[in-house]
Amino acid sequence: MKYTTYLLEWFDKNKRQMPWRERSDAYSIWVSEVMLQQTQVDTVRPYYERFMERFPTVHDLAMATQEEVYTYWQGLGYYRRADNLHKGAKVVSEQYNGIFPTDPKLVKNIPGIGPYTMGAVLSIAFNLPYPAVDGNVMRVLSRQFLIEDDIAIPKTRKIFEEKVMVLMPEDARNFNQALMELGALICTPKNPKCESCPMKPICMAYEEGVQIEYPVKSSK
Ligand code: ADE
Repeated sequence: MKYTTYLLEWFDKNKRQMPWRERSDAYSIWVSEVMLQQTQVDTVRPYYERFMERFPTVHDLAMATQEEVYTYWQGLGYYRRADNLHKGAKVVSEQYNGIFPTDPKLVKNIPGIGPYTMGAVLSIAFNLPYPAVDGNVMRVLSRQFLIEDDIAIPKTRKIFEEKVMVLMPEDARNFNQALMELGALICTPKNPKCESCPMKPICMAYEEGVQIEYPVKSSK
């Protein structure tokens, strides 16, 4: 069986329930991914529910005052992300009639959307084959394939993005989320739960007993 099949089967059985997993429109996914960049899933849940209740569409967010957006963000911290999300919502609302673009050239120009958020929204909302590489994904893949590149160097992300694209199955939506979920639940930084890992049979770090040495990260 293929690598991706194991992973997708595991994800199907073990994924956590999350409010944004009940939705598939781009705006809902975008909000969740911005919140999740700085904060743990369990903390984000109630903030996300309140935010989406108050700003159910990208137009609602675009029309809100900064002050009100901050009120709903209070407790999540990193207000710059809230600002960027708000600015981005104005762009999508005004320039694209509220329809999130799927052309990566346009997506990249939305304020606050970097390569990770772009890949996450395009894959999760539209099932388009783009990588969404965060710290979890780099840890998982560096262990499975003994990738030695230093994750402290920004351009290393590209190497992982290329690896994701080599592996990418039809089901981009679940594949990207499965990599993140494996990193959050099994392939953790300390004490990874290798005995219950679906990837154990093909994990190169497990085979050599060097899980803890990956990912390689210089302390610059
Ligand atoms: N962390 C950030 N985005 C995530 C997602 N879509 N699923 C699981 N963990 C995440």
